[in-house]
Parts: sequence; structure tokens; C-alpha cells
Amino acid sequence: MNSPSPNISADFPRIRQLDEAAINRIAAGEVVERPASAVKELVENALDAGARRIEVAIAHGGKTLIRVTDDGHGIAPGDLPLALARHATSKIDGSDLLNIASFGFRGEALPSLGAVGRLMITSRAPGAEAARIEVSGGRMGPVTPAALTRGTVVELRDLFFATPARLKFLRTDRAEGQAISDVVKRLAMAEPFVGFVLRDMSEGGEGRVSFRADAESGDLFDAMRGRLARVLGADFAENALRIDAEREGVSLVGYAALPTYSRGSAVAQYLFVNGRPVRDKLLIGALRGAYMDFLSRDRHPAAALFLECDPHFVDVNVHPAKAEVRFREPGLVRGLIVSALRHALAEAGHRASTTVAGATLGAMRPEPPGATRVYQMDRPSPGALTVAHAAQAPAPLAPGFAEPTARFEDAEPAVGTESLPLGAARAQIHENYIIAQTETGLVIVDQHAAHERLVYEKLKRQMAENGVAAQALLIPEIVDLSDADVARLIDHADTLARLGLTVEPFGPGAVAVRETPAVLGEVNAGALVRDILDELGDLGDSQTLQARIEAILSRVACHGSIRSGRRMRADEMNALLREMEATPHSGQCNHGRPTYVELKLSDIERLFGRR
Ligand SMILES: Nc1ncnc2c1ncn2[C@@H]1O[C@H](COP(=O)(O)OP(=O)(O)OP(=O)(O)O)[C@@H](O)[C@H]1O
Ligand SMILES: [Mg+2]
Repeated sequence: MNSPSPNISADFPRIRQLDEAAINRIAAGEVVERPASAVKELVENALDAGARRIEVAIAHGGKTLIRVTDDGHGIAPGDLPLALARHATSKIDGSDLLNIASFGFRGEALPSLGAVGRLMITSRAPGAEAARIEVSGGRMGPVTPAALTRGTVVELRDLFFATPARLKFLRTDRAEGQAISDVVKRLAMAEPFVGFVLRDMSEGGEGRVSFRADAESGDLFDAMRGRLARVLGADFAENALRIDAEREGVSLVGYAALPTYSRGSAVAQYLFVNGRPVRDKLLIGALRGAYMDFLSRDRHPAAALFLECDPHFVDVNVHPAKAEVRFREPGLVRGLIVSALRHALAEAGHRASTTVAGATLGAMRPEPPGATRVYQMDRPSPGALTVAHAAQAPAPLAPGFAEPTARFEDAEPAVGTESLPLGAARAQIHENYIIAQTETGLVIVDQHAAHERLVYEKLKRQMAENGVAAQALLIPEIVDLSDADVARLIDHADTLARLGLTVEPFGPGAVAVRETPAVLGEVNAGALVRDILDELGDLGDSQTLQARIEAILSRVACHGSIRSGRRMRADEMNALLREMEATPHSGQCNHGRPTYVELKLSDIERLFGRR
């Protein structure tokens, strides 16, 4: 470091005003990170202009060409140079930065794009002639006459040619094209009444349409559902629950998928605030929280949720790409999401996932030669599920020596039970699956998974009432643990006692288990304690007490599945079915797997080619 000197030399750095081109290039660094961000800015501009139909054409992942054509209100010829000037916008007057109802408000996007690529805007406003302006690497040309019937065409060629360093960071054409497709689809979800087309021009000619969503009609929910089916697939729409809730002027609408339609990563989570796609930690956390009861930690819910509120309630000016927002009352928003989703999931209680039935049928049906799969869902393959279920069944039979274990009960089932949702139990096979006959088909119940869910719901009910009933052990069970684990367990001893588990320190490196939750019956206390320690370790202290309790209860419930692998009498099976019908959330186990699958008679007939 130079020491300060009274004799400042002539080459001491002086402060200088940067020229316009440099300023724009610096700003562009924040606004345009990759071709997909340019597409986002241009499509948002088209939407702000009231377009009903938007076409996006790209070539080479958007690196050589991005062209967005809209039928919006256009730009008057005299305004074209202003559209390219920084901090010039028609969308706000600057008096209230918290009252923003449009996508754009900074007046930065077009000048930024013009600074790092070759930009050409052709536009026609009502009552004016069409005109064009070009800007390349920050150098602006004159306004010239052009031919266009209506709307605006913005063409961006050779993105980042003026900033080669950025160019080097771009990924393959495929990856950039994928990111563009993602951006277009997110905006298409937000605007179901607008038609979208995405065309890849890389091969020349007319190009190849890679995504098309025609404008939807009808009421908002019909339109939204239609658009979601278009973007996310019909199976999402079929497995999704309608969400429609409001609290203190904040509304939440959209569709959230059943837990059985969960995914291996967070790819299917789409969140919008006042129509703007966001990736906001608060909202994603609330979504996870709402499903926590139904999914294991490695499964992720699928949902498209739209939050609407007074613009003053949320600051959208906190992130360069506007991808994050800040709420004035985050707690209210979080609570709204969690309660609305939980409510919908509870109401859906018994709806068997159509995906599961579909997958089951798909697995059974002989595939015609050369047939292609209609869709491949991101969920365990039938083979993997078999393995997972086998791993839970206590007494697997040696392969090849499986004795048939189907048992048929002679006892006439109680009259009228076939008309109940889960029907009348007819048989138990492989000591874990109950086959029940309903009026319109048959139901297969995974008794292990079902029982686990029932135990969990029972534990939660007891917990809410006055603590889980405990059962004292005749001889306390001593469990050896590390000192750290002993300390952690004893730290939570009070909570655990409310959950029906009484543990006390027992000399160095051990605890004594004196009581276990009564609903579990006889359990291996050592295994239970170690599982709870794993859960505590995973959760850390970040979760609320309630969340911790529910996570621990879920673990505890796994230990209570005494009925798996057990032969059941007809009356026991029917009792289980009736209990499932009476219990909320019993359609899926604590890990998001279904507890039962329903096959309609018509599905079965299709299997045999009778239809
Ligand atoms: N497709 C279009 N149709 C009509 N007018 C447009 C279109 N695109 C841009 N404009 C006009 O050009 C102006 C500048 O656009 P630009 O995207 O640079 O800024 P903005 O949208 O106002 O704010 P932001 O930088 O937040 O996007 C807009 O305010 C709008 O008046
Ligand atoms: Mg804009």
C-alpha cells in the first residue's frame, strides 16, 4: 500500500465520469446474465404492452438470435430513441417505487441489451407509421421508416459480441435453449390468456416450434388449469388440487399436486407474486413446510402458486433480475401458504393418485412392440418400488421358493361395505397387501404403509389433545450411545416425554428408556432412540418446535407398524379399511408413497382387451 504523502504526484488516480456505453455495459452485466435473461426482459416488455400473442424465435440457444414479436400497443416513432435511453420508462413516473403493477419499471433492459448485442426495434403505435431503430454495442442509429402492421418486433443478434468475456461463460446451445424454454414457460404459466410460441430457427427455414400454448379462455381457474396442463403435462393437472385462499387482502390461487405426485428435486415448483415469476426462499420454504407431513426429505412437492397482493405489500426492487421479492409481513404470507395447502391436502384425504393407478396399469399392460412411453415421471420405477417395499416387509421369502400366500376369507363381509370408498376386504396376499372389492372396481392396500400412517395420525391427535399416552416398560431398556448423543437426547427429554418416550441418563454413555408410546405396542427401544437422534441431527435447531415434534412423530410411527407381514383376519382387514376411511391424510404414507391404489373395473377390462 502506498503511504499517504503530502506531495501528490500527477498520476494519482482522478475520478472520471464514465461514458454512456460503458455505463450501459456495466448495467447489462447485472440485467443480462445469459440469453434467457434477455428473453425474459423482452417477453415481459411485450406483456406490459398488453400483447395477446407473443412469438419468441431463437437460434443457437439465443446466442446468435433472439426475436420477440408481439401484438401489443407499440412505440411511437418519436419515442424509439427514448426506449433505448437509460432510466427512461413509460411504466412509472418515479413518485412511488412501491406501487408497481408492471413487469418493467427501471428503464434499463433495452439500453442494456443494446450495449452488449446488436439490437433492432421495429414498432407501430396506433395512428402512427411503423418505424425502426438500431443500436449495436451501444452505438445508436437514426429512426427510419419501416413496414409493420401492428405491435413490436425486437430482434437481438450476437448477444455479448461487445463483451467477449461474458461470451466465454455461456453454456452449450442446448443448455441455453433449455433455460430460454424455462423462462418462456414460467411466463406462459403466469399469463394463461396470452398465446405463446417458441420457435428454434437454428436449422433455418420456418424453424421448429418447440413450445406452443394457445390463449386459454373461460374463468381464471379453468384457464390456469388448461395452461398448467399445457406446460407441465396433463398428469400434473390431473393430480393437482385447486388452491383458493385469502387472508388480510393477500390472496393465493393455483394448483398444488398430491403428495404421491412428488418429485426427486425442486424442479416443479413455480411461484408467482403479482404475476411475476420468483424464486423466493420464503415462499419455497412455506411450500416445503406445508408438505412436511407427507413427504420424506428427499421428495419435493410440485405446485404452481400465484400470490396476489397490494403492490405496497411487497418490494420487487430488491434483486437485479427481479427474481426475489421482500414482503412487508412475511409471517402472514407464510401462514397463508401453509394453511391453504394443508387444508387442500386434508380435503383430498382419500383421493388415490391417478398417476399411481396409471403407472400400475402401464406396468401390467403388455407393451406393443415399438411403443413409446407417453411420459416418464420422476418417481421411483416399479422395480425400485418393489425393492423399497420388500425392504420394509419383515420376512422376505427366498426368490424362487415363494409359497403362494394369498388367503381367501369365507366370511361374508359385513353387508353394505362394498359401497364404502375402500370397499370390502376379500383377501390378503403376500402378507402385506389387502385386496378389497368396491362397487366400481378393486382397491389394493399396502397394509404396512397404511398402518404407519394411521399410527402417525393417532400420535398427532393424542399429541394435540394432551400428550401421547405412554406405556411403562417392566424393565427399563438401557441403550448405549456416544456422550454427545446422550447429551442431545437429554436436552430434548421434556419434549420426548410429551411424545410418550421417557428417557433418563444412565451413567456415562448410556440412557435408560422407561416408557414408550403406547400405540406402538412392543418396540425395540434402542432402534427407536437412535432413529430419533438421526432425526434431531438432521433437523438441527432451525425448525420450530412443532415441526420437530411432527418429524419425530413420523419417525416414531415407523416403529409401530406391527401389522406388516402379519396375517390378518377378514374383520381385522375391514377394520383397517374403515379406520383409513375415517382418518385424514390416509391416502399416502409418511413418505409420500400411496397407501392404496384403486383400479376401476373399466381399467381392469382394458387390461384384458375387453374394451
Ligand atoms: N414490446 C414493447 N411494446 C411496447 N413498448 C415497449 C416494448 N418494449 C419496450 N417498450 C417501451 O420501451 C420502454 C423501455 O423498455 P425497457 O425494457 O428498457 O424498460 P422498462 O420495461 O420500462 O423497465 P425494465 O428495465 O424494468 O424492464 C418501456 O418503458 C416501454 O415504454
Ligand atoms: Mg422492460
